[in-house]
Amino acid sequence: TGYVTLDRGYKNTGATQSAITFLDGEEGILRYRGYSIEDLASKASFLEVAYLLIYGELPTANQYETFSNGIRRHTLVNEDMRKIFDGFPVSAHPMCVLASLVSAMSAFYPDSYEGNKNPDLHIVRLLAKLPTLATWSYKRALGHPINYPKNQLDYIPNFLHMMFALPVEDYKVDPVVAEALNVLLILHADHEQNCSTSTVRLVGSSQANLYSSISAGISALWGPLHGGANQEVIEMLEDIKADGGDVGKYIDMAKNAKTTGFRLFGFGHRVYKNFDPRAKIIKKAADDVLAKLGVNDPVLEIAKGLEEAALNDPYFVQRKLYPNVDFYSGIIYRALGIPTNMFTVMFAIGRLPGWIAQWKEMREQKEPIGRPRQIYTGATLREFVPLEQR
Ligand code: CMC
Repeated sequence: TGYVTLDRGYKNTGATQSAITFLDGEEGILRYRGYSIEDLASKASFLEVAYLLIYGELPTANQYETFSNGIRRHTLVNEDMRKIFDGFPVSAHPMCVLASLVSAMSAFYPDSYEGNKNPDLHIVRLLAKLPTLATWSYKRALGHPINYPKNQLDYIPNFLHMMFALPVEDYKVDPVVAEALNVLLILHADHEQNCSTSTVRLVGSSQANLYSSISAGISALWGPLHGGANQEVIEMLEDIKADGGDVGKYIDMAKNAKTTGFRLFGFGHRVYKNFDPRAKIIKKAADDVLAKLGVNDPVLEIAKGLEEAALNDPYFVQRKLYPNVDFYSGIIYRALGIPTNMFTVMFAIGRLPGWIAQWKEMREQKEPIGRPRQIYTGATLREFVPLEQR
């Protein structure tokens, strides 16, 4: 009944009110709870930002202590989860493994679905265990033993330890690497009603528990038009390099996206029509990190060439297609030693606080179940023909 407006891809439909993230696509402004992304990325720690997103205010020293200690205490994952993990083929994409393991967490914490009890505890568990789970796929792909978390380490150093430490030699966290990762995770922490976040809210609106909702968000993030773009970008840049470095050829292919089906990954954004403020910070961070680590990555030069060519091409200018957050993030991840198929996992670790904050807000606002309408385009009433007469 009633009048249904069609808005494919929800390009102009507000699905909720939210006090978490402010985004102005024309001006290239991004703020979490009123704080500019530039300030947060240069001055805050990822866990402070996580607290800010989830609870609405920057934590006091005491609140931060309680929050981060809670996370420290929950980094271990139930050993039975390893049996589930061991059932995956070694070649499984880490995003598929991560979504499945997070979904499985409901089974280990039934109070999450029996009346949705203890939300703060589930929040802490997820923040604590996601990095642990994320490192398993990488270790296994190498044939290395997994590393248990080391709780004397802070959040990001602990993740780096689980990723890179080997039992046969000492491992020291490089502060340049930890700081770069801190910036990247903050930049990814929330982005209002993007595809994965809307998924989390929609799934959660049926009162599905937090783990199931986040698992759905991870699945949505994996797609190449969303978080999966960061893996696609590096693969594209490597293809260009292998192909002799002719960026013009790829620009031409992308201009004919309708016939070639090829898009310039890391370009364009549904909301940013001027520039993506995160891309600006990341581009500078990529230069800094590569210089500090002494990495000379030819792919960075190709990225810069591609960006310049696109920014001067009427096709991209007219459509307001600018580099987005994913364009340079992969170059940094690579310089930090993170393998390509883990890039989207890094995005998921960064986005987790945003998903949680949005899920929590949705529940606290007592939003109704999400249920879009449609415009039916199928057959009108038809007479049923029995099988033997068809
Ligand atoms: N390369 C070539 N053409 C493009 C691109 C691109 N990357 N992006 C958009 N276009 C064209 C598109 O063909 C269309 O052209 P026309 O007006 O002739 O039909 C026009 O620009 C508008 O594109 P759209 O697909 O209608 O825009 P959208 O808002 O639905 O899509 C997007 C936004 C980000 C999915 C899209 O720009 C895209 O596919 N980009 C490449 C993938 C990517 O980098 N994704 C990461 C996004 S940022 C982080 C995140 O969300 O995870």
